[in-house]
Amino acid sequence: MSVLLQSAPSRPTRSRRTCHSVPGSSEKFLAKAPSLAADQIFLDLEDSVARGAKAEARGAIIQALNENDWASGPQKTIVYRVNGTDTPFYYRDLIDVVEAAGDKIDAVMLPKVQTPGDIEMTCKLLSQIEMSKGWELGRIGIEAQIEDAKGLIAGGAPAGYPGDHLNYLYSKIVVAARAAGIQAIDGPYAAFKDEEGLKVRTQLVRALGLDGKWTIHPAQIDVVNAIFTPSQEQYDHAEGMLAAYEEAADRGDQGAAIYDGEMIDEANRKMAERLAKAGRAAGLTPSPTTTEA
Ligand code: COA
Ligand code: MG
Repeated sequence: MSVLLQSAPSRPTRSRRTCHSVPGSSEKFLAKAPSLAADQIFLDLEDSVARGAKAEARGAIIQALNENDWASGPQKTIVYRVNGTDTPFYYRDLIDVVEAAGDKIDAVMLPKVQTPGDIEMTCKLLSQIEMSKGWELGRIGIEAQIEDAKGLIAGGAPAGYPGDHLNYLYSKIVVAARAAGIQAIDGPYAAFKDEEGLKVRTQLVRALGLDGKWTIHPAQIDVVNAIFTPSQEQYDHAEGMLAAYEEAADRGDQGAAIYDGEMIDEANRKMAERLAKAGRAAGLTPSPTTTEA
């Protein structure tokens, strides 16, 4: 289990129903990545790459970022994952790839984050590179991968705890992410041939409020996208609510906006925004509204 949080980005976040892992050591997978319909892909230097293959994978990722045709496939957020700060690979993973292809990525994924210092160091190094290159400062985001929960729950559920003991941890992370205005994304479902198991797991984490889930095999992408996509009706309602909120704000009376008999406050506006973004990522468009005679 792992959960990702994205740092507050300088641009509005896109929905990331699916975050697809592509091992940086596989030329074949890297070549296939642009054609995949995941909302985000991340090119991996960490767990999917053997220790002896790290340096070569760095070069392969730089080449894939610079030379693959990322523009004509499905639109996606582009990320790569460095090794953790407690490995001998982290600094070269960060500096070599960002210097050579930082203009092609939206964010760097940082695994096994232990302390705020890990994020701070990464943030400062990114700023250094952005300044030295004359790039927009702070454009490249950071995705922090929280994996500590694994250790926390390693002992199993306490006797007598009702339901799945993981639910408490997920709920806690979702609340923290919502408060910070960032997305929370579930980790991978490893049994990639077990579509039914993937569905059950994805429906559970969606119900708990997570925004998306990792995928590790192309066949998982459509399954996870579908579960995180709202129905047309939910999507229409969300867009309608956002439009009503905007109108009220334009009139200067936000806080008192009403849509479909329901008062719009900041909490349900945010919920509508999440649904609307997920629907837009799925290519939904608002149904034509019926006008009353
Ligand atoms: N990204 C992009 N393409 C992938 C892919 C991935 N993660 N996994 C498989 N593919 C491609 C294959 O190259 C193949 O392409 P083709 O149809 O053009 O020949 C197609 O998808 C079907 O793959 P398949 O043969 O069913 O799978 P496989 O046996 O080649 O690979 C895994 C199975 C699990 C080894 C592979 O999916 C994988 O390594 N996944 C990533 C694991 C990972 O990232 N772990 C770290 C994060 S937890
Ligand atoms: Mg891992």
